[in-house]
Amino acid sequence: MNNKAKKKKDEVYYMRFDPFTRFLHLLIIISFLSLAITGMIIKFSGIGMFQTLSKMLGGYEVTGFVHRFAAFITFAYFAMHIGYLLFKKFKQNRPAKNLFVGERTLMFRKVDIIEFGQTIKWFLGIGPRPNYGRWTYWEKFDYFAVFWGVAIIGGSGLMLWFPEFFTGLGIPGKFINVATIIHSDEALLATGFIFTIHFYNTHFRPDKFPMDTVIFTGKMPMEELKNERPREYKLYMNSPYKDNYTTSKPPVWFERAARIFGFCALISGIMIVIMIIYSMTFLYQ
Ligand code: HEM
Repeated sequence: MNNKAKKKKDEVYYMRFDPFTRFLHLLIIISFLSLAITGMIIKFSGIGMFQTLSKMLGGYEVTGFVHRFAAFITFAYFAMHIGYLLFKKFKQNRPAKNLFVGERTLMFRKVDIIEFGQTIKWFLGIGPRPNYGRWTYWEKFDYFAVFWGVAIIGGSGLMLWFPEFFTGLGIPGKFINVATIIHSDEALLATGFIFTIHFYNTHFRPDKFPMDTVIFTGKMPMEELKNERPREYKLYMNSPYKDNYTTSKPPVWFERAARIFGFCALISGIMIVIMIIYSMTFLYQ
């Protein structure tokens, strides 16, 4: 092994995501891609391409089943995430306020507004790169998008799934039609957002292209942390728990597997965006 390769192998890494968080994100990728593709097959059932896709899946009944199964996974990971936060609070005796205030919270703070302004200036070349911390404002936005996505898309989806139950509660039948419109349009919006803006912010921006594997491996080079997130680096350097966050380079096979899986997910997302544009132009020509 030459010196350069050895230096790379010995590089110190920072542990950004724990195994449970990575597992939940894997569930998000698998379920969201399945929901998006099966949802489109159901929505655009008059277009030949989607009829072929439905046949490949085993017909519309199977497509509907896969959609519902992926919806079940969505509710399950959402519940697991809330359970995980409660576990941290009660079992590990972490103060609840850590979730809502302080440097490492996912809640929006004044600093996010300031960094938004600084980012625009940086984009325009009239300011330096902001001193981002553990979470940037766009990462916080993505995090909360899952909450309102599950509430709006999930809630309306449940109405489509169990219409007798909801009308039995006294909800007028016409609200099931309204739920279809809300579900369908919000789903297209979420799909368009995730596969363009989220993909760009996380993977396609110049310093990450073609992808960032940190969400699979959990690890990022310490040098990258220092340059990209100086506020978090400073906290890390002064933390009494520094050792818990210091790690080594992920094994080559793991990094490679993460890249292959990530590549398949990114390509699937891009294909879905192309299919949405095609369907829209087909329907409204
Ligand atoms: C997470 C909870 C969700 C539940 C419970 C749910 C449930 C459902 C149900 C029951 C249907 C009707 C299926 C049928 O007619 O056989 C449906 C349709 C659909 N779903 Fe979902 N879904 C969920 C999430 C999503 C997501 C995340 C997307 C997109 C990313 C999506 C996209 C669609 C679309 C486009 C349709 C077709 C609506 C139409 O007919 O215009 N769904 N969903």
